[in-house]
Amino acid sequence: MLNGKRILLIISGGIAAYKTLELIRRLGERGVGVRTILTKSGAQFVTPLSVAALSGERAYQDLFSLTDESEMGHIRLSREADLVVVAPATANIMAKAAAGIADDLATTALLATDKPVLMAPAMNLQMWAHEATQRNATRLVDDGVLMVGPEAGDLACGEIGSGRMAEPATILARISELLAPAGTPLAGRRALITSGPTREPIDPVRYISNHSSGKQGHAVAGALAALGAAATLVTGPSAEADPAGVEVVRVETARQMLDACQAALPVDIAVCAAAVADWRIAAPASGKMKKDGAGPPELSFVENPDILATIAGLAEQRPALVVGFAAETENVVENALAKCRRKGCDWLVANDVSSQSGTFGGEHNTVHLIEGDASEAWPKLSKQAVAERLGRRIADHFAG
Ligand code: C5P
Repeated sequence: MLNGKRILLIISGGIAAYKTLELIRRLGERGVGVRTILTKSGAQFVTPLSVAALSGERAYQDLFSLTDESEMGHIRLSREADLVVVAPATANIMAKAAAGIADDLATTALLATDKPVLMAPAMNLQMWAHEATQRNATRLVDDGVLMVGPEAGDLACGEIGSGRMAEPATILARISELLAPAGTPLAGRRALITSGPTREPIDPVRYISNHSSGKQGHAVAGALAALGAAATLVTGPSAEADPAGVEVVRVETARQMLDACQAALPVDIAVCAAAVADWRIAAPASGKMKKDGAGPPELSFVENPDILATIAGLAEQRPALVVGFAAETENVVENALAKCRRKGCDWLVANDVSSQSGTFGGEHNTVHLIEGDASEAWPKLSKQAVAERLGRRIADHFAG
């Protein structure tokens, strides 16, 4: 759980600085207070205004600015954080930090801090491979600096190789691992959860949907975050409050939900609890459909993508654990076992949603956990308790 933690984020001058804006947003959504230092060259890539708008605080830039020093001295700036993150970390700032040079606000803060420092290097592949940079990186690691990335791939300079800044989600997972309080076994793991119904438009004012409240999916997202996972919740329309410490992405249709899920990858854990509409209207009307005396409209449907099956079937980036939910009205266990196989998921939480069960929209759930060919009946529990128990099972799974 990152809520209430504080980070000093140093943005040095690399094209990857634009990805740091996304990192600030994601940290903010998880309740992390982010204070920023923008180096002179960093300010060539992102503006102090965009950094300040996302962090909710001014971006500190100048060591010798009287305002900076009277409002917030560099010592306070470097100490009043739980962690200092340098992203992107250029070859230049790494070299200076390795040598103990303090000639601007960023490097001075790095020298003055008594907190752990995490660097996300980003540079051209030759610069990264250069003996000087490698020597500096080794020196920094020996000095206790932590590193995330760089990753291999297409570089902004047009070359392909190692030097790309780690993705914001990867940096975030590393941050949560470093700041995780004791008892957070999923720290460093990323989780994607779908929740709620989807809404499929008929025309601009009408839609088809279902009774899913989002209670169960939201509770799972909260439980995984409480266990330390960096959780992204992709939800259809729901009246449920955002779970604490979770990044929430709101969507309406099944196709938007799939897009948002794909954008959240890679993750270690995917839990698909959304009640996705199986069908959508083939051609929603662009204007409001009118009662024009010609009788009821004929609606034709096309099948929506199956998000769970898509994620479970990914050749690359398949999450290590994919968990589905199955709402059944009869033969709950048999149908769920078959569904688990058909959809290619690892586990499936099957529940009885027959009208007498009161599951849809209710507070309680009676579920069976399907793992491969095995099924385990859980007692009637609150949806919160189902989420916590599932979260513990997931944590145990990753603990090996
Ligand atoms: O086939 P059925 O709808 O019963 O499967 C339920 C499971 O599949 C749930 O985990 C649900 O979130 C997921 N699902 C999905 N995309 C669909 C339909 C179902 O992810 N289009």
